[in-house]
Amino acid sequence: MILETRNVSKDFGKLAALVDVDLAVAPGEIFGLAGPNGAGKSTLFNVIAGTFPPTAGRIIFAGKDITGLGAHRICHLGLARTFQIPQTFASLSVYDNLRVGATFGGHSDRRIRTRIEESLAYLDLTAFRATRARNLDLYTTKLVMLAACLATGCKLLMLDEPLAGLSMLEINNFLELVRKINREHGTTILMIEHILDSLMDVSHRLLILHNGAVICTGDPQGVCSDPKVIEVYLGEGEDE
Ligand SMILES: Nc1ncnc2c1ncn2[C@@H]1O[C@H](COP(=O)(O)OP(=O)(O)O)[C@@H](O)[C@H]1O
Ligand SMILES: [Mg+2]
Repeated sequence: MILETRNVSKDFGKLAALVDVDLAVAPGEIFGLAGPNGAGKSTLFNVIAGTFPPTAGRIIFAGKDITGLGAHRICHLGLARTFQIPQTFASLSVYDNLRVGATFGGHSDRRIRTRIEESLAYLDLTAFRATRARNLDLYTTKLVMLAACLATGCKLLMLDEPLAGLSMLEINNFLELVRKINREHGTTILMIEHILDSLMDVSHRLLILHNGAVICTGDPQGVCSDPKVIEVYLGEGEDE
C-alpha cells in the first residue's frame, strides 16, 4: 500500500469528525472518497497531509509513519494535495503560483524550474504563464492548482472536490486529465467527490464516509449497491 490510515480519529472539541478510519490505497490506484457534506472527507485529507495531526491512529505513507509530521515534510516525501476552496495567490502569475507549490516540496531550484515547465506544458497552461491568478476562470484556476501539485513531483496526488462548480464538459475534461496523469505518470490518486456518479466513473475503488466513520469500501459496483450507501444518499436527498 502507498497510503494507509489505521484507526484514525479526529475530534474538534466534542465533535468526532473522524472515528477509527481505516483506509488503504494501493500504488497506481485512482481511489475515490465520497460521503455527504460534513462526513469528514476534508478532515481526513487534512490529517493525512499534515494540516493538523489526528487525535488518535497512525498514518503510513510510502512505508513511513508520517503521523504528526509537518505538511511541508509530507509534501517532500511525495504527497501533494489541492484544497476544496480553490486557493491560488491572486496577485501572483500562474508561473509563480506553481513555483510556490513546487518549492513547498523542498526540491532544488533547477529541478523545480524543470518541473514547472513540464507541468505547464502537460496541462496546456503555457499561454497563461504570465497571467495573474486573479484573472483566471474557475476551470483554469483548478488546472493551476493541479499543475502546482504535479510540479512537486508527487507520487500521491490528493484532490479535494476538484469537480465542484464545473460544467458537465469541464467535469469530463478534468476527469480525463486525472486518468491521463494516473496512466502516463503512474501517479496514485485519492480524490474526494460529493456526487457519486462522477466518482464511480473514474475510481478503481471507493470508500464512503458517514458521520466520520467508514460505512463501505470496495469496487464501484459493490459500493453503489450497498444498502447502507443507498440509505445515506437517499436520506440526504430528503433533507434537501
Ligand atoms: N478546523 C475545524 N474546526 C472545527 N470543526 C471542523 C473543522 N474542520 C471540519 N470541522 C467539522 O468536522 C466535520 C467534518 O467536516 P469536513 O471534514 O469538512 O466534511 P466534508 O469534507 O466531508 O464535507 C463537520 O462537522 C465540520 O463542521
Ligand atoms: Mg469537504
